[in-house]
Amino acid sequence: MTCSHINSGPAAVELRQIHKSFSLGLLNTKKKRILNGVSLCVEPGQLVGLSGPSGSGKTTIGNIALGLSRADSGRVLWNGRELNYLPRKEKKRLRPRFQKIFQDPALSFAPFQTLEKSFRDVLRFLFLDKMQAEKRLSMLMQEMKLEQNILKRPPGKVSGGEIQRLALIRCILAEPFFLVADEPTSRLDPLVQAQVARQIQTMAAEKGMGVLFISHDFSLLKVLCHKVLRLENTSLIPAWQTE
Ligand SMILES: Nc1ncnc2c1ncn2[C@@H]1O[C@H](COP(=O)(O)OP(=O)(O)OP(=O)(O)O)[C@@H](O)[C@H]1O
Ligand SMILES: [Mg+2]
Repeated sequence: MTCSHINSGPAAVELRQIHKSFSLGLLNTKKKRILNGVSLCVEPGQLVGLSGPSGSGKTTIGNIALGLSRADSGRVLWNGRELNYLPRKEKKRLRPRFQKIFQDPALSFAPFQTLEKSFRDVLRFLFLDKMQAEKRLSMLMQEMKLEQNILKRPPGKVSGGEIQRLALIRCILAEPFFLVADEPTSRLDPLVQAQVARQIQTMAAEKGMGVLFISHDFSLLKVLCHKVLRLENTSLIPAWQTE
């Protein structure tokens, strides 16, 4: 699965011939192969769905694409530039633009501080104009039907659906080039699920963000994505594509 380059520019993220094994057992003597020469391309503005059995390596692919986990071999390209050869300063500059929404959204926030403080830290990092950033935050909260006062609480004291929407807002504020959404809707009621999925779709269309959307819900992926891949027995197989 290589890049067809629908757009004239480079892919948001490209994986080329990725191999990955994990060590098994206390002595790390045995290895379990997870990915065997996996290639994948996510263009700007494109939503690519990734399905596959539990434990097949979907989260591992996402983490490798984000540089959070290292492949044993193969290449990872961010906007056409090989991640392994990016100067440290450049990687640090680009890092906030390559985001992840976790299956457990509370991981996006520091556990013991208020959400307000966590957001303030994010905003300080991303924006020069504090007023503009805060206005944007409260607008997004309104859009996602969240009350402003929940920001006074730590992440453990808001509901699963609320924290998922807050994690998405945190991500939107960073205006990512590429997003790994790792089963972001699996814990939500159908209404919030649709809201989060729609928000991700809008971000992709309006901002040209590439998305790798991981889910066990094949029908959701078909509605949401331009194409769907299935990871099975260490390889990626095309499972569905828009005409
Ligand atoms: N750091 C690690 N060390 C050892 N094994 C690991 C590590 N991370 C993942 N694994 C193993 O690699 C395999 C793939 O894990 P991964 O989390 O990528 O699967 P997944 O497809 O995302 O599964 P799920 O659908 O349940 O989320 C699993 O067997 C898992 O136990
Ligand atoms: Mg997973």
